[in-house]
Amino acid sequence: MPLDLSAIGKKIGPVTTKYGWKDVVLYAVGVGAGFDELDYVYENRLKVVPSFAVPSVTEFFAQVVALSGADLAGILHGEHELILHNPIPPEGGELTTEGTITHYYDKGAGKGALVVAEATTCFSDGRRLFTNILTIFSRLDGGFGGEDAPKERIQFPDRPPDFEEPARPSADQPLIYRLSGDTFALHVDPEFARLSGFERPIMHGLCTHGFACRAVIKHLFPGEPERLTLFKNRFTKALYPGTPIETQIWRLDEGRAVFRTLNAETGEAVIDRGLVEWIGREEAEKRHTKAEIRLDGRVAIVTGGGGGLGRAYALELARRGARVVVNDLGGGPDGTGGSKGPADRVVKEIEEIGGEAIASYASVTTAEGGEEIVRAALEKWGQVDILINNAGILRDKTFAKMTGEMWEKVREVHLDGAYHVTGPAFRAMKERGYGRIVLTTSAAGLYGNFGQANYSAAKMGLVGLMNTLKLEGEKSGIKVNTVAPLAVTRLTEELLPDEMRGALKPEAVAPLVIYLCSEECPASGGVYSAGMGHFSRAAILTGPGAVLAERDRLPTAEEVAANWAQIISLAGGREYHDANAALGGMLAGPPEKASPGAPKAAAGDGNVAQVFERMSERFDARAATGVEAVFQFSISGAGGGEWHAVVKNGACQIGQGKHAKPTTTLKMADEDFLAMVGGKLPPMKAYTSGKLKIEGDLMKSQLVQKLWRL
Ligand code: NAI
Repeated sequence: MPLDLSAIGKKIGPVTTKYGWKDVVLYAVGVGAGFDELDYVYENRLKVVPSFAVPSVTEFFAQVVALSGADLAGILHGEHELILHNPIPPEGGELTTEGTITHYYDKGAGKGALVVAEATTCFSDGRRLFTNILTIFSRLDGGFGGEDAPKERIQFPDRPPDFEEPARPSADQPLIYRLSGDTFALHVDPEFARLSGFERPIMHGLCTHGFACRAVIKHLFPGEPERLTLFKNRFTKALYPGTPIETQIWRLDEGRAVFRTLNAETGEAVIDRGLVEWIGREEAEKRHTKAEIRLDGRVAIVTGGGGGLGRAYALELARRGARVVVNDLGGGPDGTGGSKGPADRVVKEIEEIGGEAIASYASVTTAEGGEEIVRAALEKWGQVDILINNAGILRDKTFAKMTGEMWEKVREVHLDGAYHVTGPAFRAMKERGYGRIVLTTSAAGLYGNFGQANYSAAKMGLVGLMNTLKLEGEKSGIKVNTVAPLAVTRLTEELLPDEMRGALKPEAVAPLVIYLCSEECPASGGVYSAGMGHFSRAAILTGPGAVLAERDRLPTAEEVAANWAQIISLAGGREYHDANAALGGMLAGPPEKASPGAPKAAAGDGNVAQVFERMSERFDARAATGVEAVFQFSISGAGGGEWHAVVKNGACQIGQGKHAKPTTTLKMADEDFLAMVGGKLPPMKAYTSGKLKIEGDLMKSQLVQKLWRL
């Protein structure tokens, strides 16, 4: 079958693959990394060998071959160009690849043809990671009358190489490498290899390619694979496993070098015409820290998206690349009536800024409505990644005068509405193993508001829904959070003072909601207030309380009265992850009474933010003599966040957020962190059990215990 010329320009993909840190390590071991390059193989400080980008799109390549119609008996991987846009996240995630066949070149009848395909791969958060340009040499497909490929010469300088890196892939190397995806029989089956004209199975060209990639990084920018931007080469000869190789490298101007890899026994090049480009350290760091939050490839639903806050969310989601279902019933502020106008208008606004959106006019108040809204996303785009439950109405009245209808109508939109839409969306998210759900509560629910009993109850019901969904979605990558917004919209315009209107824009709430909808969001189960550019977290705290029961004797109301102050005290209060943890807290009882003169609060009391507030007080300057380091604390969970401590000249400075150059990074869940600093979880146990993960300088991380009396 000749090459299919009509395949040029046809979209291939999206092809989606998942990877985790073990895949990163398996690949590194497959291309020869070991103890002397621990960063490539040890999950606590993992960096990705950039050539991992090539086997991670094996499925895409298979589709190129199938679509081009190239004769399978004659195909070889001829050349490869890898362009790195951003470092590949070592922890893993989902990769989505889309591309096309860009060219066919004809070398003439009997001489073969070249099939060139290009594919770009994005990470789950929409970040563009890399582009692979693949040239397949199709030996049996020449002579179709096309033009030949343009000649491109790579000149090797006329001097001995600046660097030479010898290596000896093991005799079994292909057996490890193939586990990264290329399971072609030629590299494992002796019979197949013989039939293909070889004495025995041969190395994968891409395995040797990985050896070469490690070699150039080692000599040109050691330990900093994230600086690589281009890695290009031609595959020239087959190599048997166990044969020693040598990569020769010539540095050209700053940021460019040429290389080739030789069969060290014969002196023949197995990889030739290699070109490598890299960027400076500062530029690489900037590239890393400036990453924009993108939602390309994501599908979002915003209920009540036709106006007010929902419109601001929908527009910002679209601006960042998400495709949006704008749902809105289009009724009045009390939920009466209906119109297509609001949803249609927002869809039009999204289209005007170059985004993709569809309208849905269904009411969230019925199960059918909820199904219809989610179905709209699934039918149009095949997935739902983000759901913002935002639709809302008001029917205010003091409780004494509130009718049953007022109670029900408000509950139906806010609480039942979230249930009806979240149900089908949650199931679709579970199937794909990813989801972000935002529920909308209100200060009225969290703290109370005169005349809004119905609304307060429904809004607090949503917090309860979140508390359990966060647990049930955890294993499926679904994060559920709640926002308590404050903005001038038609619901609040009469309640909020005129002078605050400028600051009270819905657009000032959207950044938090967008973050909660992003892959980057580390939290689940949090309640966040947002308005006027101010953002904070609200939480349920449980105080240590008092134990009044004694063996064989029930406590009395008089004892409760007598111990009231202790019962209601929130000093040393805690947040609990779930009901079981709260029960555990009750069974454990309050901590031992503090003796006079002892510090008022133990280090692990309160929440994570409070620990960091107190951290400077607990710093031991004497232990810091000669220490210069930046400790980054990356705490996950609803109470988590990023803090860093800069220790220099015997002093310590605590800051919030990520430091640009941490010496060592300690990663923990909020609960484990509090247990550790509270003395309930020994640091060594936390580390060996995997609850504490350390990146960067492991030795420096040990200083934490010495420097702070935690
Ligand atoms: P809004 O009235 O501008 O937006 C609510 C939207 O929901 C409207 O476009 C409405 O047509 C739509 N909607 C109502 N019932 C629906 C139904 N059954 N099905 C589908 N869509 C329906 O008001 P705003 O302020 O933007 O409210 C958004 C959310 O934020 C609401 O849940 C509200 O309770 C909440 N909230 C707002 C605060 C504020 O300061 N604006 C304060 C606290 C909470």
